[in-house]
Formats: sequence, C-alpha cells, structure tokens
Amino acid sequence: MQVKQRVLTGITTSGTPHLGNYLGALKPAVAASQKVDTDSFYFLADYHALIKCQDPQTLHRSGREIAAIWLALGLDTDKATFYRQSDIPEIPQLAWFLTCMTAKGMMNRSHAYKASVDENQRQSNVDLDQGINMGLFSYPILMAADILMFNANHIPVGKDQIQHIEMCRDIAMRFNHTYGEHFVLPEAMVEEGDSKVLSGLDGRKMSKSYGNIIPLFAPADELKKLIFQITTNSLQPGEAKDPETCTLFEIYSAFASPQETLAIRNAYANGIGWGEMKGQLFEYLNEYLTPARKRYDSIIKDPGFIESELQKGAAKARAHSQPFMERLRSAVGIMSLVGDMNTKHSGVKTKKELTPQEQEKIDVGKAKGLAIAKQRAEEETAQLNLKVDELIRHINASSSGELASTEAIAELKLQIDSAKKKAKKTLQLTLELLQQRLASELS
Ligand code: TRP
Repeated sequence: MQVKQRVLTGITTSGTPHLGNYLGALKPAVAASQKVDTDSFYFLADYHALIKCQDPQTLHRSGREIAAIWLALGLDTDKATFYRQSDIPEIPQLAWFLTCMTAKGMMNRSHAYKASVDENQRQSNVDLDQGINMGLFSYPILMAADILMFNANHIPVGKDQIQHIEMCRDIAMRFNHTYGEHFVLPEAMVEEGDSKVLSGLDGRKMSKSYGNIIPLFAPADELKKLIFQITTNSLQPGEAKDPETCTLFEIYSAFASPQETLAIRNAYANGIGWGEMKGQLFEYLNEYLTPARKRYDSIIKDPGFIESELQKGAAKARAHSQPFMERLRSAVGIMSLVGDMNTKHSGVKTKKELTPQEQEKIDVGKAKGLAIAKQRAEEETAQLNLKVDELIRHINASSSGELASTEAIAELKLQIDSAKKKAKKTLQLTLELLQQRLASELS
C-alpha cells in the first residue's frame, strides 16, 4: 500500500485574505485536500500572528475570519485536519527543541529578519535591530516546528516562503543527525500560477502592506467600488489596448476559463472602454464569488460552529502530535528517571502505564521521601524545644514567673501577627509548645 503524502500549510491570522491569497494558496490547498492519495493539514498560524499583530481584537477577529473562509471554500474537515496552531501545545515545545538545534548564523540570514534590518538601515537608524522582536528573528524555527510536528512532505507556500522550508530541512537534518531519524525532510510546493503574483489596485503586487488589496469576500458594493479604483492608462474607448500590461485583464484571466479569456483578449483588440471592462470584471468576479461569499456570511455569524470544527481538528492533530512528542522527548533525554531509555514512552506516565518494576522503584522512592520528611520534622521540633527551654529558663529566673510567662506569651502573639507565612507557623508552634510546657510544669 502506498503511503499517503502529507500536505501542510498555515495562514497567519493577522489580516484579511485577498484575491491573491485565494489564487495562490487557498484554492490549490482546498483542491489538494480532495485528492485520495493526500492527507492534508491546514492550520491557523495564530502564534505567528503574534509577531506582528499585538492588537488582541484584530488577532481574534482575523482567526475567526480566516477559519470561516476555509470552511466557506468547502474544505472537508472530515478528510483534512483543520486546526489552530495554538491548540497544539506540542508545537511550541518542539519549537524549543529545534531552537537548540538551529545555528544563530542561519537565522541572521533569514529574509524576514533581514528585510527589517535593511529597513532600519534605509531609515539610518543607529540600532539596526530597532523594533525587531525575537519572534520575528526565530520565525522560521516556529514554522519548522509546524511542519516537522506532522512530518509533512509537501508545503504549498508562496515564493517568499521557500527559504523557510530550506531552513526547516536544515534544522531537521541536524536533529536527525544528533538524535536519530525522526523527521521527514519537507519540500516547498510553489504553485505554477503563483510564480506570477496577482497585481493589486495600483498595479503593484497585491499585498496588505501596499494597501492595494481586494478582500476575497468583500460585499458586492465594495467589490465594485474597488474594481473601479484599479489603475488603467488613458486610452479612450475604441482604441486597441494591450491585455498583457493590464491589471483588469490579469485578474479576469486568473479566474476565467481559456475561452472566456480569449473573448476578452479580442475585446481589448477591438478597443473596449475601461469603464465597460471594469463592469465586466465586476460582474464576472461577483458571480464567481457569490456562492462562497453567501456561505461565508452565514458561517461567520456562527462562532460556535467554527469553534467546534477547530476543536475537532485539534483532537485529530493531537492524536499525532502527542505520541510523537513523547518519542521526541525521550529521544533528547527528557523523560521519567525510572523509564527505560529504549521504550517509546517517556515523560509522565499514568499509573496504568507503569510496569511493576517502575512502580516498585517509584514506591521505594516515595517511602524514602516520606522518611526524609519525617526526620526533617523531628529536627525542627527539636530546634523549637531548645527555644522553648530558653524561654522557660528566663521565666523561672524572673521574680514573678506568672508575669514573665504572660509577657512571653503576649510577645510571641505580637510576633505572630506581624510575621510572614512560614515564620508565622514556626512562631505559632513555639507558642503552643510553650503553653503546653507551662501548663505541665504548673500541674
Ligand atoms: N509563514 C507562513 C506565511 O506567512 C505561514 C506559516 C506558518 C506556514 N507556519 C507555516 C506556512 C508552516 C507553511 C507551513 O505565509
């Protein structure tokens, strides 16, 4: 039987997905999840979002929107494993193991980090690390943990992420070399269509950072408004136009069939006016997107449904990540002191999982612990008795024993009132002992 290929990708939950994200990532990912020979793992990268989004409301809302988008696009969550990164505690645990396997020099070369350093340089900032947090610096390591946790083979990503996959391979190799073969080496899967990134309203690459995006599920009136904002040249209706340099044509052809695209190409040659072309693009996109947008509008109103889907996914994901993390912990030597180094299990076992020998070692250890605690308590009582002896000597030496004892008791009570927790307990015990001893000496 052929082993299924694992496809894994995440979307950072710090913004609103746009048409470019749809074509480059979402659409191919949903299609891949329907293949019989593929196991897909798709997740909301909310820990990654924390790096650049420190507004709790935005982060939270974005997570809900992006989850609703996946579901509206028809992701089959029984087939695919669809989860939230932060629901898998093993991911940050693994990220630490990997951090300790990662050369700092390699992180220095990470594009995401270097871009920020370059920006500081451009702005002539004295501190080239200004505004850069460790999350950004270590970003590729957390991403490697996302991937290696599920031993994914193929990672559909945009071109800008290829370096991160290479770093992930490097880290995985180092881990495998140090601790044995635990990780599969993943490969980036860059969509053909993605090599030509979609342009935005101003003709530059569609990107949140340029503020030129068309959100995937913008309501119809907003979609229309945005399409009419797309930059064109000043050619008049009736003049032949070049489709290849035109953002309207580019977006149209990214969605339309080859025949539909050919018809529009002819319309350009025949001098279609920009207003008319914008109208046609809007009609086309609106019709294309409406069914999914309707599903989106109803799903987004139902956070309970979204949450239950994510919980289902988290349970499926943890069925992999929990046992795998156990194995990795044991591989690096983090495990119970009485476990066998060679068993698959490690960490804290439940009582049921312990072998009789292990249970016996633990019982002997417990008995020893109790004996130590008992001895310590006896020593403490002996100390207290010494102190009480002294108090009593003082009382007996004074002219009025009764007065001295009352004073000693009052003094102790005063100290108790102002003492901190542990000292208070000791003083209280001293008081009790003293009162006992005085009572027995009187009788
Ligand atoms: N870094 C990716 C992005 O910004 C998101 C991401 C996080 C990711 N973890 C991942 C993608 C693991 C693929 C695999 O697009």
